Amino acid sequence: MSNTGPESTVPAAASAERGAGLRPAVAFGGVGPETELERGVGEVLIDEDRLQERIRELGREISSDYAGRELLLVGVLKGAVFFMADLMRSMSVPCEIDFMAISSYGAATDSSGVVRILKDLDINIEGRHVLVVEDIIDSGLTLSYLLRNLESREPASLEICALLTKPERREIDVPVRYVGFEIPNRFVIGYGLDFAERYRNLPYVGVLHPDLMPEGV
Ligand code: IMP
Ligand code: MG
Repeated sequence: MSNTGPESTVPAAASAERGAGLRPAVAFGGVGPETELERGVGEVLIDEDRLQERIRELGREISSDYAGRELLLVGVLKGAVFFMADLMRSMSVPCEIDFMAISSYGAATDSSGVVRILKDLDINIEGRHVLVVEDIIDSGLTLSYLLRNLESREPASLEICALLTKPERREIDVPVRYVGFEIPNRFVIGYGLDFAERYRNLPYVGVLHPDLMPEGV
């Protein structure tokens, strides 16, 4: 079992200076943001290679942990779709997938903790080994609600795999078994993550351009 810890995107010696270690968004040709999509990106936080390498590591770790068990991946729509698709292709154990859609009432970039199920699972998870796949854990409120809800359906086991986590923002403790990257307290977009439903199709994780950041966030 490899048990690799989450990668940090915060350089140890420069944690006070936010943004240290980041580089400008220069994905195409190195000449600066060219497309309309890229103009939304302030800096690239995790480039495509690092993202894919870490996902392969997670896939290997999960495969070894779940060897001999029938795994059900539960994706949280919509953000986790991209991560889940790559993650499951890097896993060598058989797995099924299902999805839930939840909405939290609150401001555009903040979670209120009041959660509503918009789309429930199609299948019964009683007695199943469930791994919830999430794009990012911010306050933890959404996942904490979801975990309680799923736990009440009596799965054989229930774990979480999140691509990103912002430890500084955590308001409630959630037991996350697998984490891709710990990131600083910045609003990120790309690789499934949206700002007002846009930017999910960027192949990397970037910080939202400061000009687009809503007031007071
Ligand atoms: P939480 O309930 O505060 O943990 O919020 C989790 C949800 O908020 C995630 O599933 C995302 O949909 C959204 N979210 C939190 N931080 C970000 C971010 O930096 N960029 C995009 N979406 C985010
Ligand atoms: Mg979202």
